[in-house]
Amino acid sequence: MTAPVITIDGPAGSGKGTISQRVAAALGWHLLDSGALYRLVGVALMRDGGAPEEEARAARLAGQMDVVFEPVGERTVVWLNGDDVTEAIRTEVASAMSSRMGAIPAVRSALLARQRAFAQAPGLVADGRDMGTVVFPQAPLKIFLTASAEERAQRRHKQLKAKGESVNIADLLRDLQARDERDSQRAVSPLVAAEDAVIVDTTGIGIDDVTERVLLLARQRGLA
Ligand code: DC
Repeated sequence: MTAPVITIDGPAGSGKGTISQRVAAALGWHLLDSGALYRLVGVALMRDGGAPEEEARAARLAGQMDVVFEPVGERTVVWLNGDDVTEAIRTEVASAMSSRMGAIPAVRSALLARQRAFAQAPGLVADGRDMGTVVFPQAPLKIFLTASAEERAQRRHKQLKAKGESVNIADLLRDLQARDERDSQRAVSPLVAAEDAVIVDTTGIGIDDVTERVLLLARQRGLA
């Protein structure tokens, strides 16, 4: 039997990353940060000297890249072909690039098997845009997180500020809306809630409450 999967999809800044980490830690399950894989393809392409239009090159790199997610205490160190790219994949440039990589069908198919391989006992929490619709359509619990664009931009602003980066909030909101638009309108695997997903609006709700809500749903479905 394959391991159970909880999928957590949603737009940038909806809290997916943090909630997925908390839920995985509470259950003692594995975690897949699928967005990191698209970010890695973008960084791999930039490091290879490629441009975002070079779809075949991006897909080749997606298939070949050597990726390691190394848990170190609370954080995860991300390695790409032997280099620590933990910070490099989180820049605004890498964010824009990853969204472009996500719109390339050949990149998406090159990453499919890699993502499914994360489903190992005792279970997996999978965070992304198409976890419930495409990668793990049989998942017994699917969550779709949303929040207003303004609140999501504010959260991102806070995160960047904590890292010492000063970015204009209006610019962040504009970039976030552009990314939402591209992620939702693309032809392959667009950002959309699975029909059987539970939609959770996190606007004005704290991380602890959202985590509890997901864990309650997991218990109700006999997963915890
Ligand atoms: O979750 P994130 O912000 O790190 O994701 C970065 C980009 O990767 C996102 O803008 C679109 C793409 N992505 C995707 O197309 N499919 C996924 N399952 C996850 C991310």
